[in-house]
Amino acid sequence: MKWDSRLYDKSQAFVSEYGNELISFIPLNKQQCILDLGCGTGDLTQKLSEISSCIIGIDASKEMIRAAKKKYPYLNFEVMDACHLQWKNQFDVVFSNAVFHWIADQERLLKGIYAALKNKGKLVCEFGASGNISQIEKAYGLVLESSSKEYVNPFYFPTVEEYSALLQTAGFKIEKIYDYDRPTPLPDGKDGLRKWMMQFFTDRLSMYDEARQMVIFENVEKILEKKMFDGTKWTADYRRIRVIAHK
Ligand code: BEZ
Repeated sequence: MKWDSRLYDKSQAFVSEYGNELISFIPLNKQQCILDLGCGTGDLTQKLSEISSCIIGIDASKEMIRAAKKKYPYLNFEVMDACHLQWKNQFDVVFSNAVFHWIADQERLLKGIYAALKNKGKLVCEFGASGNISQIEKAYGLVLESSSKEYVNPFYFPTVEEYSALLQTAGFKIEKIYDYDRPTPLPDGKDGLRKWMMQFFTDRLSMYDEARQMVIFENVEKILEKKMFDGTKWTADYRRIRVIAHK
């Protein structure tokens, strides 16, 4: 997946803003070591550094890590695939906001996180739950089907039951797991939904030229306008799953 770090900081700053609440689930202890998994441009890594003297942010995107290092040169960031963690008994907390739904191999991800945590170490994460962005996905699917293109949903949005089973299989003890609706207002006024698609659907849009992409955006907007646009802003139908679990 190709990320645009400038667009991310300008039009998707809400992703990190929502992550602030998740940080409140981390016990306060300045000595703890924290891994920020999927740190993007580093805004939450910076917040986490206020409660930890030992922090590293990783992301699979070189572009995101370059931007994070530029913004926060005094913090540790590394380009790393979340399914290839090499750490053993290193972290008190693995934190992750809005990342797991991009990862296909959840068994491998959880196995790596479990190994990286110290005994009793915590996984604190939140990502898209079953039903997340389902109206946007449905509208996008309809638009592609109408031009005879196959529609594939690339995201992993589990139910609480499904994810609880995966966590337990990986060895975690679950402290909290729940899902909830989080309707999410998008910035950029009437362009909010297309800016969102430009960032998050890049891979799926890259086979179309710019003119064709504009037609896709207009058609998706037409389908969703009544439900999601109030005349000034778009509100996306986010659903979240929140997990607090320990080794
Ligand atoms: C999210 O839930 O954060 C999300 C999921 C898929 C695409 C973009 C955002």
